[in-house]
Amino acid sequence: MLLEKMLQSQGFGARKHCQQLIKTGAITIHGEVITDPKHKLNLNDLVFAVHGTQYEYREKIYIALNKPKGYECSHQATHHFSVFDLFDDVHLNRGLQCVGRLDQDTTGLLLLTDDGQFLQALTHPKKHVPKVYQMHTADPVTPEQILQLQQGVELRNEKGIFAATDAEALGTHQLQMTVHQGVYHQVKRMLAAVGNKVEQLHRAQIGQLNLTHLNALPEGKWVYLTAEQIALAKYRAE
Ligand code: URA
Repeated sequence: MLLEKMLQSQGFGARKHCQQLIKTGAITIHGEVITDPKHKLNLNDLVFAVHGTQYEYREKIYIALNKPKGYECSHQATHHFSVFDLFDDVHLNRGLQCVGRLDQDTTGLLLLTDDGQFLQALTHPKKHVPKVYQMHTADPVTPEQILQLQQGVELRNEKGIFAATDAEALGTHQLQMTVHQGVYHQVKRMLAAVGNKVEQLHRAQIGQLNLTHLNALPEGKWVYLTAEQIALAKYRAE
């Protein structure tokens, strides 16, 4: 691939801008300054530097964020911060998107990518990728509520039944459950449907990927996923 095209693909701006960067000597490849925009590159294990900052070439990006409270999953956040505020222009220029959404007040595992197929595979309603949520509730969690959640509840304006698997109380006001769809406010609405209320919501796992696989990633921090972690997240998605 030509150097100017590679830089453009990695989010460094329009072709003209990338050509300028190259011609002004801003780009180093394996320690050597390259000033020819048409320089041909082997993309395998490519590491390059722009103004001294190192980057690895990535065909697509797959990111896990431990989402903090008070961040919306939209580019034009209205009342809160946007999760995209936590990323650099090079990510945003590549068209980074959230894989599904978490409410602004929900914390935990959020995936982001510029790979449309990966996004589809994880969010398509027919794929039923399991997602594990942990929550604090306003009222005590009862065995009847757990049973109802497992049997499934109806949600207004949604077709079908919404059931949880592996629902278990983690304390008198704490519940963990797995859901397999991803409709708007699903967990909060399911809890409301059984007569309780979610006070705090946290997503611990998507597919088989959980925050502990990510070395207990601190809130507000993100990492690139490895190929193994991508496969764990896609569990049941194919
Ligand atoms: N269900 C909800 O109600 N909110 C979320 O953020 C995620 C799932």
